Amino acid sequence: MFSKEILTGFGARKTPFYYYDLELLHNTLAACKRAADQYGFHVHYALKANFNAEVLKSVQSFGFGADCVSGNEVKKAIEIGFPPEKVVFAGVGKSDEEIISALELDIFCFNVESVQELQVINDLAAKAGKKARVALRINPNVDAYTHHNITTGLEENKFGINQWELPACAEYLNGAENLWLEGIHFHIGSQITNLTVFKSLCIRVNEIKLWFEERGFTLRVLNVGGGLGVDYMHPDENSIANFEGYFEIFNQFLDRKPGQEVHFELGRALVAHCGSLISRVLYVKNGIKKHFLVLDAGMTELMRPALYQAYHKIENLSREPEAGAQKYDVVGPICESTDCFGKEVELGESFRGDLIAIRTAGAYGEVMSSRYNLREQSEPFYLERTQR
Ligand code: LLP
Repeated sequence: MFSKEILTGFGARKTPFYYYDLELLHNTLAACKRAADQYGFHVHYALKANFNAEVLKSVQSFGFGADCVSGNEVKKAIEIGFPPEKVVFAGVGKSDEEIISALELDIFCFNVESVQELQVINDLAAKAGKKARVALRINPNVDAYTHHNITTGLEENKFGINQWELPACAEYLNGAENLWLEGIHFHIGSQITNLTVFKSLCIRVNEIKLWFEERGFTLRVLNVGGGLGVDYMHPDENSIANFEGYFEIFNQFLDRKPGQEVHFELGRALVAHCGSLISRVLYVKNGIKKHFLVLDAGMTELMRPALYQAYHKIENLSREPEAGAQKYDVVGPICESTDCFGKEVELGESFRGDLIAIRTAGAYGEVMSSRYNLREQSEPFYLERTQR
């Protein structure tokens, strides 16, 4: 929602830019923390969704941990103030250099994706004179029923250790002097809106957990990943994700032993709604079959529509919605046909210079931007908490 004050704040700023509502971010983080605390659940924020420093500072101030997928994300998290004992390092291809640096920083845990990676971490930890805490990322073969490009928990995906490889992992861990098994880790996909999928995950985790316990392993941590989706269609009506319902499912269906911790790695649900991409109409092209709005933002600023045909709500901030409704294909200036934010989008009649908001762009927006076509990158604009 954009008040008159916010629009004045946008003023004559050069577009395009990312706008972050830090008040909404705060309220979202508070809602998540409250819901997780009821059950003693631990949330690690997935930095990959948005590593903007202002966003990270807010997340850190709530006491969340950090889920990182590169050596640079690990360093960034610690630089912002996340305590190393709340930092986990995941990813299917960690380099030796990244592993060594994370060992030096004494992070909480490596989420390991193969037997070979266990061997590499064991060897590097031995050289560093350390014992590395690890969790096994296991592919649970649970369908997340989300876009196929963001599904990760099926055997056809490259992520995680398949269940038939578990005996080899257990055998290796039994003899590995520089590894300490903290727990097991799962992540089945992103933008999951059907919560019953998480019930299926719990049932699979319970089985796999039992398999380890029967073999004498104590699992201190059950990490069930992230993936909670948000409502891209109705960003104002549902501006805060259903954290209550989400955590409730895990509380109900996940078996926990006394002292066993449950960890989550949420990204999108924490930051998606607080961000919008603000752009201006450069040209209105009226064709025979279609009308086009050519914006000054493109797939270089927000690539989700081009990459996953993702829907983002588009609003003309300069016109009243009812002012002469018109359908437009809203496109960017990049020399690619997929550089399109939405087809047949119903907007008020729009003109050159109008301000356009592309909503729910706080997750996987700014972080996935690129310099393709040698595009400029601009500083974001923030609505501070005290400004409302
Ligand atoms: N944990 C792991 C191991 C992950 O791979 C991911 C996301 C997360 C946690 C956080 O998931 P979230 O809560 O944000 O769903 N670029 C895509 C999304 C890629 C998600 C990658 N993994 C998009 O724009 O939709």
